[in-house]
Amino acid sequence: MSAAEAATQVQQVLCRLDEIPDGGSRGLLRQGLDDRVFVVRQGGEVFAWLNDCPHQHRPLEYRQDRFLSGDGSRIVCYAHGAHFDIRSGHCFAGPCEGEHLVRVPTQVKDGVVWLLSDVPAAGGRERI
Ligand code: FES
Repeated sequence: MSAAEAATQVQQVLCRLDEIPDGGSRGLLRQGLDDRVFVVRQGGEVFAWLNDCPHQHRPLEYRQDRFLSGDGSRIVCYAHGAHFDIRSGHCFAGPCEGEHLVRVPTQVKDGVVWLLSDVPAAGGRERI
């Protein structure tokens, strides 16, 4: 099997683009009480991250789908106030400064957000 064939097999629909508010965020792939993944939309671009803060490996949001600062300019972990760049996932302020969120590979095509690989496990080291 080629790498392209393998990649095709793990593709799944995460959501439609219009289900994410432009400039906003949404949690997805709920498992128990938590969403495993969250996405941030900026126009036609979507940035998808594992919902796992590198500080203490907790979910980031303070309530359903709320992963951003009040002005929508950055991702915030509400447990202890870490701030992350939306595009790079880099933590630039807070207790895990210098660390990164774990990227979840996605692609937007024809108004649909596709998941391109398995979702990394919480903790970011293993895949499930
Ligand atoms: S768990 Fe995210 S800042 Fe502490």
